[in-house]
Amino acid sequence: TLVSSTPLLQTARANGYCIGAFNVHTLEMLQAVVEAAEETESPLIIQSTVGTVKHLGADYIAAAAEVASRNVKVPIALHLDHCMDLSTIVQCIRAGYTSVMIDASHSPFEENVRQTKQVVELAKAIGINVEAELGKVGGVEDDIVVADNEALMADPDECAKFVELTGVPTLAPAIGTAHGIYKGEPKIDFDRIAKIAAKVSVPLVLHGGSGIPEEQVRKCVALGMAKMNVATELRIVFSDAIKEVFAANPEENDPRKYMIPAKRALKEAAIEKMRLCGSIGRA
Ligand code: 13P
Ligand code: ZN
Ligand code: NA
Repeated sequence: TLVSSTPLLQTARANGYCIGAFNVHTLEMLQAVVEAAEETESPLIIQSTVGTVKHLGADYIAAAAEVASRNVKVPIALHLDHCMDLSTIVQCIRAGYTSVMIDASHSPFEENVRQTKQVVELAKAIGINVEAELGKVGGVEDDIVVADNEALMADPDECAKFVELTGVPTLAPAIGTAHGIYKGEPKIDFDRIAKIAAKVSVPLVLHGGSGIPEEQVRKCVALGMAKMNVATELRIVFSDAIKEVFAANPEENDPRKYMIPAKRALKEAAIEKMRLCGSIGRA
């Protein structure tokens, strides 16, 4: 069975490592990250965006993740990424998701608190995890677009107040990372992470995991980031492997012939991220 990610992430933060949360869009992508977790004995968070819920259906995603969780020994949580509406959250919980993100970071603080509290109450009754965001992560994720000049870092005192008011078990504070691949390097505010971590004991979530230099990821993890979201890099690896097959053989028409190399490439990329997170052998 799928498990709540709350205890997994609490253990990760307490022990100074991080759990990779990988966005998947197809069954093969889901299977690839599961194989990576199984092979490395790493706890795993599979996540889907709202767009992928629309594309595949929450019930199909949850069913596939549930089967995976029965077939392997490592703990697996299924998370809904960046969701802005309660109805999709309820739909996913009913389908079997064990973690949801309510992203009201575009609303004023009080409204973010109100919406997050509502979801926390719901989730606590069911025994699943909730993630909320403070500040605004820049870049493009699904159909959420935040311009660089709109991106806003989270305030440490507000983070403390937010967790206290909402009871949210995991928090994603914006600290300078962005969705997608960076033009240069991300400008991560490590002092801010340290200040937030000192005031907030819940596991922190690092968004925009693609393209962050490795030593910077390690620094974030050491400071209290217990979950790292990775989407774009994995999509690129998966798609590039498919492109390679078609470049060599434009007539290929057997999906297994292009999906098998794509799965293999994604699995390797996921294992690299798990190594970076320090989650290998922690399952
Ligand atoms: P990247 O696309 O930069 O990996 O960001 C992923 C993310 O934060 C998903 O919520
Ligand atoms: Zn994100
Ligand atoms: Na990124």
